[in-house]
Amino acid sequence: MSVKPSSRNRKLYVSTHGCQMNVHDSERMVDVLGQSGFDLASNREEADFILINTCHIREKAAEKVYSELGRYKPLKRARPDLLIGVAGCVAQAEGAEIFRRQPLVDIVVGPQSYHRLPGMVEKAASGEKQLDTEFPEEDKFDHLPGVSGRVRRNFSSFLTVQEGCDKFCSFCVVPYTRGAESSRPVASVLADARNLADDGVVEITLLGQNVNAYHGIGPDGSEWSLARLIRVVAELDGIERIRFTTSHPRDMSDDLIAAFGDTDKLMPYLHLPVQSGSDRVLRAMNRRHTSAYYRNVIERTRKARPDIAISGDFIVGFPGETESDFRQTLRLCDEIVYAQAYSFKYSARPGTPAAERDQVDEAEKSDRLARLQEVLSSQQREFQRSQIDRVLPVLLEKRGRLDGQLTGRSPYMNSVHVQAGDMLLGRIVPARILKSEPNSLAGEIVLGHEAIARGGNLPNVSLSDPVRHEGVTGVA
Ligand code: 5AD
Ligand code: SF4
Repeated sequence: MSVKPSSRNRKLYVSTHGCQMNVHDSERMVDVLGQSGFDLASNREEADFILINTCHIREKAAEKVYSELGRYKPLKRARPDLLIGVAGCVAQAEGAEIFRRQPLVDIVVGPQSYHRLPGMVEKAASGEKQLDTEFPEEDKFDHLPGVSGRVRRNFSSFLTVQEGCDKFCSFCVVPYTRGAESSRPVASVLADARNLADDGVVEITLLGQNVNAYHGIGPDGSEWSLARLIRVVAELDGIERIRFTTSHPRDMSDDLIAAFGDTDKLMPYLHLPVQSGSDRVLRAMNRRHTSAYYRNVIERTRKARPDIAISGDFIVGFPGETESDFRQTLRLCDEIVYAQAYSFKYSARPGTPAAERDQVDEAEKSDRLARLQEVLSSQQREFQRSQIDRVLPVLLEKRGRLDGQLTGRSPYMNSVHVQAGDMLLGRIVPARILKSEPNSLAGEIVLGHEAIARGGNLPNVSLSDPVRHEGVTGVA
């Protein structure tokens, strides 16, 4: 990513931890600081301002920030004018405590206040420590620059449409660090999406902590659902693929499920965290759904889009979870069959209700995590193997690890690498899957070599129906 050159030429280094929302927020902080005269530094050593965008979701993630800050001590000692900032969810949760634990920090800024960064930097440069973790009345989305413009995006880009969460799962810090659920108006989402398309973006992932609770105000004054928003984004020229993350089972409306069947550009991949397969644990987690409810959502989504790949999140060792509860989680996995999944040991987070309860023994948590991950990894391997010999439309996003290789993603989010020249970057090409590797698939483009060498007239293939994809082999 590059930012506008400036006469002042100060250098910014951003280190990002955590989720996709943080990756996206970091880009926006680069935008806002770019407008006040910062260029991106290529390494920490040449930076005038090092900004760490932090994650508070589990203890390990939160502690990472202090070990990273410790590593900056020699830099700060050598150059006392170097500014160091902590942004993101640790900033929001710990506030001024960060200055106490690590005095080299100059700026602590929560996720609602990034638009105020330029002013904070000027004050910090004159030696005044800066803290801003307010949840302002005004909408921060109104103050951040548009996502497009100067900054050259990838062919696949995130677009934040919703932030915060009102669900209050008893283990989770998000409602505290990211605040109440709020949705951007449809018009400003569409303006950003159009700008991204003009910039050459082909795939948009609509982002939100609870994205399917989206209820932004539409041009007609009524509240629009995520499904309605997706259908309108799908009409934009240049946007060929749409995804959304992360969702809550309770907000999987009939309309959103139907969109998987009727909106070709909506990719057949759903990340739907469940956390546990035990109703007793789900109740203690305040998830507001049962395991049967979750199964039913998945069943209906599969009916709408039979080839959909399902991904999930799991927590093991939640306070009170017994061996029998845990076995119900394993059983749920066997029933759902995940294409991909993320699993974590429960981590007690200060200020959340579950942190006060009787904790499961650490060794027991580790044992359950290993058993769950064995099941999930074998399902993931099996899903990847099931792709072999299929011809899939792959959006080629960047150069691969080896010379002459490009890598991209299949509709099901698998990373696929093929032999191809740079002229195919940003194109959706039909690729036959040859081999499943630990974290990716190896494929070959199924067009004639001549067409690839010409690089031209390669149509973006139709994206929805896998049967139709197989038919694309003849194109060119
Ligand atoms: N401990 C462990 N995992 C957690 N997650 C959220 N909070 C915690 C916690 N306190 C996991 C959930 C969530 C994912 C983003 O992180 O599985 O879906
Ligand atoms: Fe956290 Fe997700 Fe629950 Fe919201 S729905 S509280 S973000 S786990």
